[in-house]
Amino acid sequence: MALSFSSSSSFAAFTVVACPARSPPPRRLPPAVCFSRAVDTAPRAPLPCATSAYPPQPFVPEVAEAVESLYSVFREVDNLVAHNSLRVLKAFQNAGVGSHHFNGCTGYGHDDGGGREALDSVFAEIVGAESAIVRSQFFSGTHAIACALFAFLRPGNELLAVAGAPYDTLEEVIGIRESSITGSLKDFGVTYHEVPLAEDGGLDWDALSFAVRPHTKCALIQRSCGYSWRRSLSIADIERAIRVIKMQKPDCMVMVDNCYGEFVETYEPPMVGADLIAGSLIKNPGGTIAPCGGYVAGKRTWVEAAAARLSAPGLGVDCGSMTSDVKRALFQGLFLSPQMVGEAIKGGLLIAEVMSMKGYKVQPLSRAPRHDTVQAVQLGGRERLISFCEAVQRSCPIGSYIKPTAGVTPGYASEVIFADGTFIDGSTSELSCDGPLREPFAVFCQGGTHWTHWALALGEVLRVI
Ligand SMILES: Cc1ncc(COP(=O)(O)O)c(C=O)c1O
Repeated sequence: MALSFSSSSSFAAFTVVACPARSPPPRRLPPAVCFSRAVDTAPRAPLPCATSAYPPQPFVPEVAEAVESLYSVFREVDNLVAHNSLRVLKAFQNAGVGSHHFNGCTGYGHDDGGGREALDSVFAEIVGAESAIVRSQFFSGTHAIACALFAFLRPGNELLAVAGAPYDTLEEVIGIRESSITGSLKDFGVTYHEVPLAEDGGLDWDALSFAVRPHTKCALIQRSCGYSWRRSLSIADIERAIRVIKMQKPDCMVMVDNCYGEFVETYEPPMVGADLIAGSLIKNPGGTIAPCGGYVAGKRTWVEAAAARLSAPGLGVDCGSMTSDVKRALFQGLFLSPQMVGEAIKGGLLIAEVMSMKGYKVQPLSRAPRHDTVQAVQLGGRERLISFCEAVQRSCPIGSYIKPTAGVTPGYASEVIFADGTFIDGSTSELSCDGPLREPFAVFCQGGTHWTHWALALGEVLRVI
């Protein structure tokens, strides 16, 4: 049997005819249309004569101009991605990760086929730490950081914040902000001291050189800017700060809030002497697909102590159930993370270029080296901040019809507005932006699985502000 087809002016349909014996096989494949549907063959306007196999950019002129000017920087970002991807790949290979590691477990989660251990070991190698716990049971970055702080701070100890005020949600953890919540570090008799930032928004090196006191047990370094109009810290800054702290008191612990910093450079804080780091898996290291979770990594003793805060003293790290799809997503997200961070960096570069061309103050400056995946833009007014977030929400794949409104969010003192039309609720490794409704009314943009999504979103932003 063979196929032949007949056509009329308005439709094509197939008929099946018998081939004579030994006839050559039919040479023409039938076109990919369904057998019974009529096909519109009405004349169409000719396609434009293309000079490329691909269509031209669909961006508004200001964005297209910025994109053209940034291609050489994007290539440099690709090199960063390649370096970090290589490190990640080697860690997967060294741990012998196999599909059996994705097995789920239930109940206590004791028998998980080695997946938890493999994930911890991959993560520890990637960040240059002795040990790590990477768990879906951490609710958020704040939760992971709190478990780490409560792991080693005891009554009478002092916590020293090295880079000005810590992120908003840590205020109640530390007890800086009065609230009805009990159980802060302050409640447990841990004192707090802060080195304000220098006038240029960087670390105040002079003040830091005599800030560590005999009862300072831990120095907290926040790598990313948070909701402050400040420079994020480079790994070189973090290394220098650790040296200055340890010179004053060698046994002072250094803990880095690593949120938004992972894979933005080729080194991570434990590689330059940090004792402990913590962060969230719905930010950089979840590669946009980890559905939840967080991590703590660093010196083995302190990672075990943080695990005891997450679970209970004595239970340690070898428990906690996880379904197989969550576990696979944590592995796969970690593998994808350098690439997703690269796209977020390119998105940030583009936002900075376009918004500074339009006369807005941006942090970091356009084309300045990046130390996190956050790009801040000062919008100077409440209404403009809200309009920016609304435009970004309209440009999202999920809930594009939702109008974000400013409101009270647990952990935050100020009203905050979020645009996060993301597949994973609250994921800021996906394209998103947010900001507290307070002076200087800055929007903090982050994430994105491809810079072209930011290029499209910026078109919508420019249309309304
Ligand atoms: C620097 C920094 N640290 C900690 C956090 C808190 O992370 P999470 O929202 O996952 O609790 C954030 C959140 O944006 C942050 O920017």
